[in-house]
Amino acid sequence: MPETTKPLIHLIAAARPNFMKIAPLYHQLAREDWCTVQIIHTGQHYDPNMSADFFRDFGLPEPDHHLDVGSGSHAVQTAKVMLAYEQVCLEQRPDWLIVVGDVNSTVACALVAAKLHIPVAHLEAGLRSGDREMPEEINRIVTDALSDLLWTPSPDGDENLLREGKSKDQVDRVGNIMIDSFEMLKGRISEDTTRADMGFEPGGYALVTMHRPSNVDDQSVLQVIVEQLIEVSGSVPLVLPLHPRTRKQAETFGLLAGIENAPNINVIEPIAYIQFMNLVCDAKLLITDSGGIQEETSYLGIPCLTLRDNTERPITIEMGTNKLVKPGQLTDSVAEILRGNWPGGKAIPLWDGKTAGRVAASLRRHTRQS
Ligand code: UD1
Repeated sequence: MPETTKPLIHLIAAARPNFMKIAPLYHQLAREDWCTVQIIHTGQHYDPNMSADFFRDFGLPEPDHHLDVGSGSHAVQTAKVMLAYEQVCLEQRPDWLIVVGDVNSTVACALVAAKLHIPVAHLEAGLRSGDREMPEEINRIVTDALSDLLWTPSPDGDENLLREGKSKDQVDRVGNIMIDSFEMLKGRISEDTTRADMGFEPGGYALVTMHRPSNVDDQSVLQVIVEQLIEVSGSVPLVLPLHPRTRKQAETFGLLAGIENAPNINVIEPIAYIQFMNLVCDAKLLITDSGGIQEETSYLGIPCLTLRDNTERPITIEMGTNKLVKPGQLTDSVAEILRGNWPGGKAIPLWDGKTAGRVAASLRRHTRQS
């Protein structure tokens, strides 16, 4: 097929969790001869350890367009992405926009494309926590409402979308792309020495991540979490890669020194994917408020305590190793895990490292050849 007649696909990269999700799909689409794929980096995340390191590890090329929007309030960030991406769309008229996940850039680009009558496909569609206090839940609902083609990771996603009025032929269950990301780099993850360099034996530590506004923006909540983590670290050493938002908030509330000085808590900077997953794979347990980590631990069979009231990924509780906990329950829940009292996960259908292939096949089926 001559270059000019190939459908042009825009793939949106924006924030840390998106880089992992687009990587297997980018490589899959770049190998196929029926389309041309371009990466648009909105610049929502910009620190090297939140962005460039992920491009390097996943072998992603320099983005074809960089929108450089940076941080800001939700309205500012969303509006800046829209202004900048509209220009790119007007110049390029892509045949498809693919957005992933639920960050502000996801909804912003979907809105731009939908208004320009550019078809939108959403990978990781249909997830619902039912909690509109989470900015990501609003992003999910709006993105799915605007999308023409919806790729879900699990049956609950299909059910949510059909209930919201999507038609069956718009919804394709493709599985979980994060498992492709892991499988893609599994060899390098197991060869990595991050855990060993920190002096930990397999199973000899717990890994902690948190950055959600509900946990880190309220002083009293963050204080309980910090107190509980310090208590937990008496029974198992903790490794805590600190997200920039969490560091800023802990400092503002005068809680940072307490965590940094706790003898059994290793506070480190956010780390790249391979190093991070090296720590995940050998951890005794995870404490997190991340979405992706609930999935990765379920896949790997590692106990996960999710510091949230709800999850948009209920399958990780039904079939995986995940449990929701309140900040005040952390110590007791960790003690349960250390006593060996935790459900082992089952294999979740289509979480098999082959999602990118199914996405590409679905996209091709839904693409009108010109
Ligand atoms: C965003 C996503 C969230 C995702 C998370 C992963 C939304 C609504 N939220 O939240 O779903 O789980 O990314 O990290 O899109 N900052 C830096 N350097 C960076 C990026 C951010 O220092 O490279 C600081 C800035 O001070 C910024 C703050 O972190 O104000 C928060 O960043 P932002 O992208 O607004 O939201 P996240 O909390 O990272």
